[in-house]
Amino acid sequence: MNDVLDIDITKDKEVKVNKGGRSFGFGNITEELYEYICKTLPYGSTILELGSGWGTSQLVKHYTVHSVEHSKLFWDRYHTNYIHVPLKQHKAVKNHDGDVWYDAKILRRAVVGLKYDLLLIDGPPVTRAGFVKYFDIFNPHVIMIFDDVNRKKDNSIMNSIASKLEVPYITYGAGTEKLFGVINDPIWGEL
Ligand SMILES: C[S@@+](CC[C@H](N)C(=O)[O-])C[C@H]1O[C@@H](n2cnc3c(N)ncnc32)[C@H](O)[C@@H]1O
Repeated sequence: MNDVLDIDITKDKEVKVNKGGRSFGFGNITEELYEYICKTLPYGSTILELGSGWGTSQLVKHYTVHSVEHSKLFWDRYHTNYIHVPLKQHKAVKNHDGDVWYDAKILRRAVVGLKYDLLLIDGPPVTRAGFVKYFDIFNPHVIMIFDDVNRKKDNSIMNSIASKLEVPYITYGAGTEKLFGVINDPIWGEL
């Protein structure tokens, strides 16, 4: 990726593109998460991803991927189905940090009617409280993967959604630094 600076539209903050971003882990999905998807989701299925990066280039090998992306640095990099959605400030969400998320009005319009089998929540970079606030935008019946649930704030997002839907979640990656959690994990049907 280019070592260039981008401007965060809502906060005027410079965002540096990490050159080490061409591998699993770091800011990208881990190899374990990638393998979980390959094992769980039949090839040819459709993924809706919040936040695109190098990991997207791996997923498109087997899946149709629609990527919601706020940063123009990452628009249209790995496929032709990008959904360009700027960030926007929203009212605070009780029990959750942060008040900047995708512009829900634009996202809703772009996603309505879209059919997908798996939702990967891996963006936007700083705060994801908007996912709880605007959850009705998404299909609650698909497999939902929450990356970075080793972080307290991301874990609480997954917890809120699981409580809202009254369903369990499974956390993967025990013993590693980067955990992901899954709601509507098909493995539940096999337990
Ligand atoms: C956690 S990353 C998303 C990673 C993606 N799901 C993957 O597995 O490659 C969240 C956001 O960080 C930004 N981003 C992606 N790659 C980056 C990089 N190499 N350095 C800095 N920011 C990056 C994008 O704006 C993206 O929406």
